[in-house]
Amino acid sequence: MNLFDVYSLYDIEPVSGSGSYVYTADGTKYLDLYGGHAVISIGHSHPAYLKRVGDQLSKLGFYSNSVKNSLQAELAERLGKISGYEDYSLFLCNSGAEANENAMKLASFHTGRKKILAFDKAFHGRTSGAVAATDNPSIVAPFNQTPNIEFAPLNDIDVVVQKLSTNEFAAVIIEGIQGVAGIRMIDDDFLRELRRVTQEYGVALILDEIQSGYGRSGRFFAHIWTGIRPDIITCAKGIANGFPMGAVLISPKFEARKGLLGTTFGGNHLACAAALAVLDVFEQENLVENAMNVGSYLLDELRRIPWLIDVRGRGLMIGFDVEGSAADLRRELLFEHRIFTGGAGAHTVRILPALNLSLDQAREFIEKLNALK
Ligand SMILES: Cc1ncc(COP(=O)(O)O)c(C=O)c1O
Repeated sequence: MNLFDVYSLYDIEPVSGSGSYVYTADGTKYLDLYGGHAVISIGHSHPAYLKRVGDQLSKLGFYSNSVKNSLQAELAERLGKISGYEDYSLFLCNSGAEANENAMKLASFHTGRKKILAFDKAFHGRTSGAVAATDNPSIVAPFNQTPNIEFAPLNDIDVVVQKLSTNEFAAVIIEGIQGVAGIRMIDDDFLRELRRVTQEYGVALILDEIQSGYGRSGRFFAHIWTGIRPDIITCAKGIANGFPMGAVLISPKFEARKGLLGTTFGGNHLACAAALAVLDVFEQENLVENAMNVGSYLLDELRRIPWLIDVRGRGLMIGFDVEGSAADLRRELLFEHRIFTGGAGAHTVRILPALNLSLDQAREFIEKLNALK
């Protein structure tokens, strides 16, 4: 059997990792500034992570959501505390797309309305509702097309008001910072206005913090920069440092009932152990603060490089454009300088490293980038 050929692959295979480095079988070392699509939050093979996940695996890897699981309760309590959402409830699932499906479903159940408003260039995942709310027709199958999703231009509140005033919308979904679009910033004032108008029209505000959350922006969630509180927040990626997990943080205004949401694997023992290990390391190593400090250094230094265009971002969620091909630049960085970066479109490079990237590692990147031209 062959693999279904849907991924463009670099001819390179990391077989081990440590912190912000990965290694191929011949021992070649690569600086990882991409964390496998922004997933690696505490670094590869962190000892605290290995210990906690290993210990859990030797006790109990999985049991279903039909019995008590105190690891879930511990995760809910600690995530509530670290994020400032202690009064919200937690629903655990397995991926970012699944978190967004559940968020949109919950908003629709709650309001009795059918429509969701999303924004241009948004990416919310590849499952049915999530892909319909993703502004990329090439990945939306006819089966996924629905009149229940509409799009508005980002940072234009008037269009949002026009749509919401129809009273047909259950929710507005927006990323904390648009990631797949190439690190596209949401205006702080636009997000505050969005909070105000969603409240005015009784529409749930869903913050997709799957890429921008979990400390990456230098705050636990990117929207915290604006002081707003959404109704629903979705997380995945960094939450369990590579163990598949998604989460929905739900405001107290939503009432749970048995069977309303559910999943076989979501919140299983191993996933919870991985997520708890991530929070242990966040606390012990002040990772949100480190993301802020190292991110500010990187942003400052990148802005000094004359051939980089529109350096943007917050914390360790950084994007910049180049005049020529970003793919060529990324290939040169990878194969000649042994640095992994991310892309987005023809001209954009994304930097999404582990949150414990050190200043020395950031400096190494800047030096190599400066030496290119
Ligand atoms: C903002 C955002 N939402 C949702 C998703 C989908 O997450 P997953 O691939 O875990 O389904 C992604 C993935 O890149 C994302 O960046």
